[in-house]
Parts: sequence; C-alpha cells; structure tokens
Amino acid sequence: MKITKICCIGAGYVGGPTMAVIAQKCPDIQVTVVDLNEQRIKDWNDPNTDNIPIYEPGLSEIVAEARGRNLFFSTEVEKAIDEAQVIFISVNTPTKTYGKGKGMAADLKYIELCARQIAKVAKQNKIVVEKSTLPVRTAEAIKSILDNTGNGVQFQILSNPEFLAEGTAVTDLLNPDRILIGGDTTPEGEEAINALVDVYANWVSKDKILTTNVWSSELSKLTANAFLAQRISSINAMSELCEKTGADVNEVAKAIGMDSRIGPKFLKASVGFGGSCFQKDILNLVYIAKSYGLNEVADYWEQVIIMNDHQKRRFSNKIVQTLYNTVADKKIAFLGWAFKKDTNDTRESAAIYVADDLINEQAKISVYDPKVSRNKMLSDLDYLETRSDEANSKALSIFDNAYEACKGAHAIAILTEWDEFTTYDWQKIYDSMHKPAFLFDGRNILDSKELESIGFIYKAIGS
Ligand code: NAD
Ligand code: UGA
Repeated sequence: MKITKICCIGAGYVGGPTMAVIAQKCPDIQVTVVDLNEQRIKDWNDPNTDNIPIYEPGLSEIVAEARGRNLFFSTEVEKAIDEAQVIFISVNTPTKTYGKGKGMAADLKYIELCARQIAKVAKQNKIVVEKSTLPVRTAEAIKSILDNTGNGVQFQILSNPEFLAEGTAVTDLLNPDRILIGGDTTPEGEEAINALVDVYANWVSKDKILTTNVWSSELSKLTANAFLAQRISSINAMSELCEKTGADVNEVAKAIGMDSRIGPKFLKASVGFGGSCFQKDILNLVYIAKSYGLNEVADYWEQVIIMNDHQKRRFSNKIVQTLYNTVADKKIAFLGWAFKKDTNDTRESAAIYVADDLINEQAKISVYDPKVSRNKMLSDLDYLETRSDEANSKALSIFDNAYEACKGAHAIAILTEWDEFTTYDWQKIYDSMHKPAFLFDGRNILDSKELESIGFIYKAIGS
C-alpha cells in the first residue's frame, strides 16, 4: 500500500512541526493538518510564515517551502478525514482535572472525540496512527470505538509516539534517534506498519525505524519521558547536597557524565523541569502502575515529581531567605518565562511557580522573555487561581527588553537558559539595580567569577 494522503488531527506543537517535516520530505504525499481551533489554523496560514503560532528554529522556512504545495492547514476536519488513507491523532492529552484519576490520569476525551469522528466519517479502510502520548492499552479503546460506531470499514491502529523536544523540534524530526511504530502482528497490521515505515524511510534510514507490538510502543513513550525526567530530578537532588557540602553540581555532573554508561546529557541541574509532558506523563505512569496494584512502582516514579516540585520551591525560598527573609515590595526581575530556550511554550514552566511563590510574599515581578507574550504570562498565573486576575496584573510587569526589566530591581532570577542572556552587558545591568544586587541563576548559564567581580551576589543551583 502506498500512502498519498495523510490527515493529522491537532495542529499543535507536535502535529504542526511533524507534518511540516513529513510534507517537506515527501512531496508526493498530500498532508492536511486540521484543528478545531480556528485562530490556530488561521495563524498557520498566515502569509508571513514568521507569524506561524509555534516558534521553533527552522520551522518557518519549512512551512514556507511546503505550504500550499503539499502541506495544508484547515478547519475542515471531516473532509480531511474522508480523503486521507492515514489519520494521525495528535491532539492534547492533558492530566485529568476532574473525576476518577483527577490530577494523575491522562484525559482522553479529545482522543475519544477524534475516534468517534473518524468512525462517523470513514467510508473506506483507514490507518489510524496514535501520535499523541497515550496510556498503555489506549489502542484497545480506540479500536473498540472505531469498530462499534463505524460504517463497517476496517481500521488498523498504529502507535507512533513522537520523541521531539521543543526548541529542537525540526532537527529532532529531521535526524531522529529512532522512529517507533507499534502495530498488530496480523498480516493487515503488518501491512499498515510497512506503509508507515515507507513514509519515514523517505529521510530516515531503515535501521533507525523500530517496529514493535502496540503495547510496547505506547509504554516506551511514557518510559522514555520518565527516564529523561528522572535524570534531571536525580541531578537536582544532588544539587541540594552540593550546596550543603561545598561540592559543585556542574563538576559532579561532568565527572559522572564522562562515564560512558551514564553519559553527559540531561544532567544539567536547574530550577526544575517544565514543559507539557514530563510531569503529565509520569503522573500518568504512576496512575497506571497504581491501577494494577503496583504501589512500589508507582511510588518510585512519583518521587521524580516530588523532587521537581521541591526544586522549584527551594529556588523561591532561597530568593526570599537571601534577601534578608523578606521580598515584600521588592522588585525581582525574571529573565525568561518559557520552560526552556528556543520555544514560546510556557506550559508547566518553573517560572510560573516561582513567580506565584514570590507574589505570595508580596514581591513585584518584572519579566522579560524574548518569545513569550504578555497575555500568555498573565494567563499562566491566572490559571493557578491563587489570587484574582487583577492582583496578578498588578504584581507582574512585563518588558520587551532585559535592561528595562532589571532597572531598579533588588534581584534577578534566570528562569530560562536563553542564549542572549550570556551576551548581556552585566555591568550596565548591575549599575541600574538596587544594592546589594543579587543574581539567582536557575539555569547555571552565567559565569560566577565575572558577575562576582562586577559586584553581584551570585547564587547558582548546586554550588
Ligand atoms: P497542543 O495542545 O499544542 O496541540 C493539540 C491540538 O489539538 C490543539 O491545537 C487542539 O485545538 C487540537 N484538538 C484537540 N481536540 C481536537 C479535535 N477533536 N479535533 C481537532 N483538533 C483538536 O499539544 P501538543 O504539545 O502538540 O501535544 C499533542 C500530543 O503529543 C500530546 O499527547 C503530547 O503528550 C504529545 N507530545 C508532545 C510533545 C511536545 O513537545 N509538545 C512531544 C512529544 C509528544
Ligand atoms: C521532552 C523530551 O525530551 C522529548 O523527547 C519528548 O518528546 C517530549 O518531552 C514530550 O513528550 O513532550 P521537552 O519537554 O520539549 O521534551 O523538552 P526537554 O528538552 O526534555 O526539557 C524539558 C525540561 O527539562 C525543560 O524545562 C528543561 O529546561 C529541563 N532540563 C532538561 C533540565 O532542567 N536539565 C537538563 O539537563 C535537561
């Protein structure tokens, strides 16, 4: 079977970039990305590709090349489903905020809606691909909905989780460590797997395309995120011990990372990991383990989240303690709001929680982030519902450059590792601040010696 028409439901951080790269690399395949969110689709279709809704280095160029040729963004969900042989489901799967599993389980209501819509519309056999991150055995539920509410056509369900990281989505998609495709071991299942393998084989070498059964594929995605996040919580746990003992966490990370069995990546101590997935996926894993009665397994992984929450709180506590146990009416400048550099995404960003803690202590926060809009920052804080929206907008002032944000501040906190922060004229910033001037580097990106020689009281994580 040769695939010529793909539809992707969900034009978000995964659906948009992934489909743009498939379209770029497979000019013979027509790729249509659909979403219910009209504004999002309008933004993807903005004539100036610099205005597309997701900031990722290199993405706007790919969209400019493929859009209108074989890449389309549309709100006509049913039409796109009807025309496609393969339908990727790439909708959000957030943590449930209600009912059974509240705060832990993945909310699958958007997935179920997609399955029902596909079943309703499909008049020919289709391959349905789980691109979203899903609890193990979700394919079973999707299949049941498709088979029981459909028009009698045959569906093959594949699991094809996405491993891209935001900020490096385009390079991750162009040069993936692996592509994982899980499917049924029946002849029809294998045919579907092979059809999808052929799509990726247009730019990924076959030895990097791994095929497994559906359950292994679904569980591998949760496992990969749990292992990655676990490394960050492990090094962050050590950062606290380093602060007590005089060891330096950067030196410890380098020393252990040179052991080839450990490896150097994901050992950067920080104010805590953020992003839309690590926390959500580990909570989901914990929930799944508990639902099978595996309490020790659940507790083991939950500790990764407990450590991460502790790390964020520890950072805000340290700011308060260092500023003589009060930040009331003091101005704290935040450099960075995104959960990591090179993205405009702020979901679960540590900055939100640190700001919330400091506003509880009656601090005034001034923020600069190169890519995050003012409205986004305010809505992130409002979402926590700690205080009124009005109180949040009084406590948070937002600037479009760092020098203005830091003027008159008692302290600076680095919350995102944007490269530009390392290029600033720190003497000029120091001169414009209240004295003593404190700098809390939540990302360990600045040079302590240089800053201390200027006069800053500089505190990094884990030293
Ligand atoms: P997102 O919120 O950015 O995008 C999801 C989109 O789906 C939204 O635009 C929403 O409007 C749309 N949508 C929801 N229900 C719909 C429906 N019934 N019909 C049409 N559109 C619908 O989410 P995301 O970050 O792209 O994540 C999507 C999935 O991919 C999640 O399961 C996530 O865990 C997983 N994932 C995310 C990343 C990442 O870096 N963000 C990486 C790997 C995997
Ligand atoms: C992560 C995974 O890296 C992807 O493989 C996965 O596809 C994705 O989750 C997902 O499923 O959504 P992402 O969250 O986009 O990607 O970004 P990461 O680079 O993993 O960073 C996550 C957080 O950890 C960021 O806040 C980052 O600053 C922090 N981090 C990362 C550290 O604090 N230290 C490190 O050493 C690495």
